[in-house]
Amino acid sequence: MHPEHDVSLKSLNTFGLPAVARTLVRVSSESEVRRLIDDPQLGLAPKLVLGGGSNVVFIRDVEPVVIKMEIMGRRVVEERADCWIVEAGAGENWHDFVAWTLDQGLPGLENMALIPGTVGAAPVQNIGAYGVELADRFESVDNIDFMTGRTLVLGAQTCRFGYRDSIFKRELAGKSVITRVRLRLPKPWIPVLGYLDLERKMAESGNYAPSARQIFDWVVAIRRAKLPDPAVIGNAGSFFKNPVVTEEQCRDIIGRDPEIVHYPLPDGTVKLAAGWLIDACGWKGKSIGQAGVYEKQALVLVNRGGAIGAEVVTLARAIQESVYGRFGIRLEPEPVVV
Ligand code: EPU
Repeated sequence: MHPEHDVSLKSLNTFGLPAVARTLVRVSSESEVRRLIDDPQLGLAPKLVLGGGSNVVFIRDVEPVVIKMEIMGRRVVEERADCWIVEAGAGENWHDFVAWTLDQGLPGLENMALIPGTVGAAPVQNIGAYGVELADRFESVDNIDFMTGRTLVLGAQTCRFGYRDSIFKRELAGKSVITRVRLRLPKPWIPVLGYLDLERKMAESGNYAPSARQIFDWVVAIRRAKLPDPAVIGNAGSFFKNPVVTEEQCRDIIGRDPEIVHYPLPDGTVKLAAGWLIDACGWKGKSIGQAGVYEKQALVLVNRGGAIGAEVVTLARAIQESVYGRFGIRLEPEPVVV
């Protein structure tokens, strides 16, 4: 464990926003995490865990000790009657892990291909795409408590997953760090193909019984066509969550905007496409300073080159205000503003 000082975070967040960490510690094992916790100076200091930096917006320099998670390793833990259990270190790249499970002949994660970020960040915001979310494949995490230094194995119940939400974003924020993640890949494999974009791919190709590898390739192609590659254009994926409204609210909006994209949920509420709402307010392609709204998907805010966090936040607020003004809906940001 070697603390580094005044480290630029620009290349450590996918938005490419400028910020400096007063202190940054790279950890590549559980014992390094424990050494950090036992350190007389750093042990009690506030901490911020950084994975792939794909879900943060830095608006200022970072005073808490930044823990750069670099614990690696992937393995098949066990085969059970109804599933395989696979495990990865929190510092592994998520997409590479998904590809690796397919290489092992273990399908189940293919719908979540190409989601930016690390394995350790995946449970924090319960990542999801094309009809599958992490919670659907979750077994447990190893989580080290910053106060006690003890590792706890947390199961799905404890993690309290919600839509892009978990205990790690709430009660445990800043209090602990995920070091390893275990996922369960159900047997037999059942493909998840209900999402409109995937139905389109099946119709186009005439392949209605795709393999997991084929679904992986389709998801990669769909995402590449719609979402900007953070290595080329800085961004943090969807900037807002899709809002959920009551049936009455939805009916009222449909009365005024019959075109609105909406998905009824099993509990009677309705999910609205935030991208559609933002698009309808005319934001697609617009900018404030160097922060902009992506041309191909209004839900994604991008760095047009040299943006600062304040510009991203100003743009996000302006979008929230116009969506509220027109639809009476408050959009909630998905990334964490630091
Ligand atoms: N739409 C528009 N205009 C736009 C953008 C979208 O009209 O500018 C419409 C689309 O035509 C579509 C609907 O809105 O009918 C939904 O769009 P899309 O299918 O692209 O999905 P999304 O709701 O925008 C969500 C997730 C993504 C995930 C995709 C696929 C959230 C906040 N976002 O996006 O997750 O990849 O579904 O499952 O839930 C992420 O969280 O960073 C992320 C990229």
